[in-house]
Amino acid sequence: MTRVLVAELAGHIGETVKVAGWVNTLRLQRAMQFVLVRDHTGVVQVTWKRDDGELEALLDGLSIESAVIITGRVVANPIVALSGLEIIPAAVEVVGRALAPLPVDEHTGAERRLDWRHLDLRRRPAARLVFAVQTTVEQAMREFAYSRSCTELHTPKLMGTASESGAEVFKLGYFSRSAYLAQSPQFYKQMAIAAGLDRVFEIGPVFRAEPSFTSRHATEFTGVDAELAWIDGVDDVMAFEEQLLAHAVTAVAERHGTQIREQLGVEVTVPALPFPRITMAAAQAVLASEPPREDLDPDGERRLAAHIAATTGHEFVFVTDYPASVRPFYHLRPDGQPTLTASFDLLWKGLEITTGAQREHRYEVLLRQAAEKGLDPEPMSDYLNCFRYGCPPHGGFGLGLGRLLMAMLGLESIRDATFLFRGPNRLSP
Ligand code: 4AD
Ligand code: MG
Repeated sequence: MTRVLVAELAGHIGETVKVAGWVNTLRLQRAMQFVLVRDHTGVVQVTWKRDDGELEALLDGLSIESAVIITGRVVANPIVALSGLEIIPAAVEVVGRALAPLPVDEHTGAERRLDWRHLDLRRRPAARLVFAVQTTVEQAMREFAYSRSCTELHTPKLMGTASESGAEVFKLGYFSRSAYLAQSPQFYKQMAIAAGLDRVFEIGPVFRAEPSFTSRHATEFTGVDAELAWIDGVDDVMAFEEQLLAHAVTAVAERHGTQIREQLGVEVTVPALPFPRITMAAAQAVLASEPPREDLDPDGERRLAAHIAATTGHEFVFVTDYPASVRPFYHLRPDGQPTLTASFDLLWKGLEITTGAQREHRYEVLLRQAAEKGLDPEPMSDYLNCFRYGCPPHGGFGLGLGRLLMAMLGLESIRDATFLFRGPNRLSP
């Protein structure tokens, strides 16, 4: 007999079916035994009238979260709160017995729930919904990237030298020498441009050795990176990203909008195109920062987002033209504006989800900008060689998948947007 999912039981009234799931709730009464069985699609009531038989004894011995297979008849019963049906069992098999008591319940604190992540996820449909949404987001992003003729890359995460900036890089033993974990596919996706791949994207792990204990920082997260060759300017990169996001949000709204509203209380709104854009200078004027700042802190990001929402009704905003002082050496500086960069951050509901830029593709200029930032060109020679034999203008962005899910689903922490979170104090499970 094939398994029937709980959500599909209404189509099987009167039939004998097999349901597989976990014991969600036990109500063992004097005359009746009720076992609520949960699978990943819902909860169904299994009803048994005591008869002093074997099945009665087995049900009395069940423990919460045991994995069970129920074979029984689906019966319509309007009194049953759970979709007006129940199962009258013919056989119950305990395939995986759960110990009692459980290490987590509805009062358990956040850290202990992370310790027991598999149980926490199993018992909370809203927590699992995040990963259904993540799947749709990734699928939609890939669809979009393929439709724009992007090649999907898998760049190395082990590197022989600490790339972009030495500070945030994990160092590990590598046979008789050291290796570093990639803190971005940045240099490699640019190498792909120099290799003539034209447009590339990658969805992969990113490692940051930042001792940050905020709700938005992880030491390992999934990055969505894109890089586009032969662009006319950074606007081409922003246009690509806003269309990519509109496509992904549309897919999520269509597939999960109702569930997200019901389970998370959040409305997924498909954004209008184009997204609002504001220069960093204009943003600072809006924020009336005293003294004037060069970058946005999280409070500034939130206040700016509130201003954009009030003036345009939009949840997204591109902040552009960041000062060169707060951007990496490889960001291109616009003609005649050496203190600025052709770069942007994208905020969604006041949270930075992306940093992007046009890259400097002229070897001499790139060397000069690296020197200006006090960087030694020697360890970056493989990267710099990409610009010595004809590199086209190009640009791209890096987007944090966890950050995107946080903003989209109104999650309090990136821990809720990550299957197994990694932070300075967490390397397990
Ligand atoms: O802003 P970041 O550091 O930019 C780069 O990595 C550049 N190489 C991108 C580029 O193409 N110019 O990282 C990109 C995004 C951030 O906007 C944020 O969404 C996410 O990655 N991110 C993190 N997410 C979780 N935990 C962290 N510690 C993160 N650091 C960055
Ligand atoms: Mg950034």
